[in-house]
Amino acid sequence: MEHAVEATLTVNGAKVTRRIQPRVHLVDFLREELGLTGSHIGCEHGVCGACTVRVNGEIVRGCLMLAVQANGCKVETIEGLSDSGELAALQKAFHGRNALQCGFCTPGMLLAACDLLRQNPRPDREQIRAHISGNYCRCTGYQAIVDAIEDVTQTDIVHGQG
Ligand code: FES
Ligand code: FES
Repeated sequence: MEHAVEATLTVNGAKVTRRIQPRVHLVDFLREELGLTGSHIGCEHGVCGACTVRVNGEIVRGCLMLAVQANGCKVETIEGLSDSGELAALQKAFHGRNALQCGFCTPGMLLAACDLLRQNPRPDREQIRAHISGNYCRCTGYQAIVDAIEDVTQTDIVHGQG
């Protein structure tokens, strides 16, 4: 029988302390313990990107990180980043370009796109494709997603760019 370990994480700006079984993955903890179901679970082995969240400023696969490994870390999910408005330009562009159908991949896709634009506010299409290549979409064929991200690069409303 595993022993739960106490861990404290800052999730979307709020401190959360819980006793957590060491085997629980971060995405399961966020979804099941905290009710943050915007991060999705697809492959559960690091391939599809549906579970993407941000930990200490870097995007990670929530299915490859244990929740207890996030002890002391700052975790941001699609919910927090939506509420803060950080994703507003991307969300508007995804909507405008019909860059989602079922929406299953969309939270992870938005986090990956945002990560790219924080590193490089003016990526070209090849760089966009390369950066989202770890996020699978079974619906759109990617074209509209690349179009949407490219739209945001044409504006000055990329996060951090004013
Ligand atoms: S569920 Fe984590 S990468 Fe697919
Ligand atoms: S919109 Fe359905 S998986 Fe991407």
